[in-house]
Amino acid sequence: MISKSLRLVVLVSGRGSNLQALIDASVEKKINSKIVAVISNKAEAKALERARKASIPAVTLASKGKPNDVFFSELTTEIKKHKPDLIVLAGFMKIIPSALVDEFAGRMINIHPSLLPNFPGLNAQKQAIEAHAQKTGCTVHVVDHGCDTGPILLQNEIEILKGDTEDSLSKRLLAIEHQTLVAAIKLIEDDKLVLQRT
Ligand code: GRF
Repeated sequence: MISKSLRLVVLVSGRGSNLQALIDASVEKKINSKIVAVISNKAEAKALERARKASIPAVTLASKGKPNDVFFSELTTEIKKHKPDLIVLAGFMKIIPSALVDEFAGRMINIHPSLLPNFPGLNAQKQAIEAHAQKTGCTVHVVDHGCDTGPILLQNEIEILKGDTEDSLSKRLLAIEHQTLVAAIKLIEDDKLVLQRT
């Protein structure tokens, strides 16, 4: 079976380790898709360096000091330029407004560091520790109109160990996130995961 080759646009705000996992998977041919652009709302995001190093167009579109509607209208225009099949939110720290969700309905996915629907929103690892959860994990889901509420595509779980801190848990979880995101893209390429429009 030949996997589809999707044009991916990855939206980021920071470190970019999930982006790096996608870059590596693409170089190692674990996925067939091509990252056609990385767009960051922060100029200092390490993710941009990672993209440039991999010769992927890296675009900064600053959100700071701009009304939300102006930023998201510019972002929509920028995303469209790259003609993506799939938009991947990989540590993009802005809530996607309805208009953008509708524009790319069923073509936008997010990676979140918890077993949704548990612990949506910010600091999901801290939330899991404070709730004394015994396990947590990560979720790749379709972006819908809510915050981390869209249809779940893939999850993987890990145990929360005695003595785990937000930092130690986040580090262990990150390795699982990288695998899960790559696996989700592969399943989408192979039509084994079908994205629903919401
Ligand atoms: C990850 O934990 C991801 O699940 C969340 O933001 C973090 C981004 O990390 N949405 P990185 O920038 O990919 O290293």
